[in-house]
Amino acid sequence: MIQKPKITVIGTGYLGATHAASMAELGFDVLGVDVDPAKIEKLTQGILPFHEPELPELLLKHAGTGRLRFTTSIQEAAEYGDIHFIAVGTPQKEGDNAADMTYVYDAVSSIARLANKDCLIAGKSTVPVGTSRELLKLIEREKSPDVEIQLAWNPEFLREGFAVKDTLEPDRLIVGAEDQRAVKALKLVYADAISRETPFIASDFETAELTKVAANAFLATKISFINAFSEVTERVGGDIRVLADAIGYDARIGRRFLNAGVGFGGGCLPKDIRALQARVSELGLDRTMSFLHEIDQINLRRRERVVDLVKSVLHELTDKKIAVLGATFKPNSDDVRDSPALDVAAQLYNAGADVSVYDPQGMPNSAKRFPRLTYAPTIEDCLEGAEIVLLLTEWTEFRELNPEAVSTFVSRKRILDGRNVLDETKWERAGWEFYALGRRTDRLIP
Ligand code: UGA
Repeated sequence: MIQKPKITVIGTGYLGATHAASMAELGFDVLGVDVDPAKIEKLTQGILPFHEPELPELLLKHAGTGRLRFTTSIQEAAEYGDIHFIAVGTPQKEGDNAADMTYVYDAVSSIARLANKDCLIAGKSTVPVGTSRELLKLIEREKSPDVEIQLAWNPEFLREGFAVKDTLEPDRLIVGAEDQRAVKALKLVYADAISRETPFIASDFETAELTKVAANAFLATKISFINAFSEVTERVGGDIRVLADAIGYDARIGRRFLNAGVGFGGGCLPKDIRALQARVSELGLDRTMSFLHEIDQINLRRRERVVDLVKSVLHELTDKKIAVLGATFKPNSDDVRDSPALDVAAQLYNAGADVSVYDPQGMPNSAKRFPRLTYAPTIEDCLEGAEIVLLLTEWTEFRELNPEAVSTFVSRKRILDGRNVLDETKWERAGWEFYALGRRTDRLIP
């Protein structure tokens, strides 16, 4: 492999745009490709079509250095790249738990068909185990006999909100491949992280593919585990935060991802645990991952729980003004895919409540999804006249709300902390009725 390979990144969503800009930051010449001309137009101007801290600066910087370009032409990409990173989406199929693999197969097949020089295809998308071996066959069928195309699977573990940092300073790197030349080429790409002693794991295809889904399944399990205990503390009394702290001090358990609340959402955890169940049952291992069904159910029950709590506090939902703080699936993102906050807002609206939503970044995407909810231009507008306030995404500006100052807007001083981030003593001192998930709701149990 050449010393400074030319890189393409196919798919310029959260994963691809971040990867492309990060590769430019590492000094490579990069071409980003997407089928969406509007997205490419924006990226070319150095404008990020979604919210991700640090990424706009990186995009602009490398539009300036000339190391980062974008195109809609897969042909141009196929002819340009020595390494093609596949970063297209693998969303959940409509009406099915399995992942929709169309974009991955299309991208790999196009590169294989159009490549006119030897190259490496490195998959970053989250895929069902067994995909790489299928892709190897596809590449052999499609490619010209004059070129050699290698394949590696190199999953990505970045978190939205920390995408740039996670890409440039990953916890670990894993590359699944059969041909050691592919491993060597990717070691070169990641030389910077490797020089800082980032663990680099070379494995077979299956281990690399499974590592990604195993990591997300484990994280989802941790969250639902603590949320299942919330169901118990809500019944018998107790404080879920203290419980999480107490078990989290055990280094074998660890405190991270034990924040109880309205649960996980986003474009990854929910669909990945569903796709994993679908894949293992295809393999005839139906019972092996059946616990993930429970993980999913516990997670969805948290949303219902918020709706039930609001019903027990307000007795009647029709026309009751409810302020929902948060729409994105987590803070520092504008992503509302499978967002617990937005789901709760929609459920309350469907039950007849007058729901007003405020989110610092997520309202344009939310409005596309649920146009009938009211989106308030400011927090104050959102709170105006509310009979109860629900904090469902833990943006800093919500965590730092001053209970005295916001008292004047609401019609009744009641708040439900759906993320366990508020200090109840402060709120109660200011005269608020305070509820939170996994604690302080026992008096509401029917
Ligand atoms: C997740 C993984 O954390 C990444 O490692 C992975 O690369 C990514 O999916 C992916 O597959 O692309 P992300 O979806 O950005 O990243 O979000 P997380 O930070 O994992 O949060 C997921 C959800 O869990 C959020 O809704 C968050 O509010 C919730 N969560 C997280 C909790 O409810 N409690 C916690 O303690 C932690």
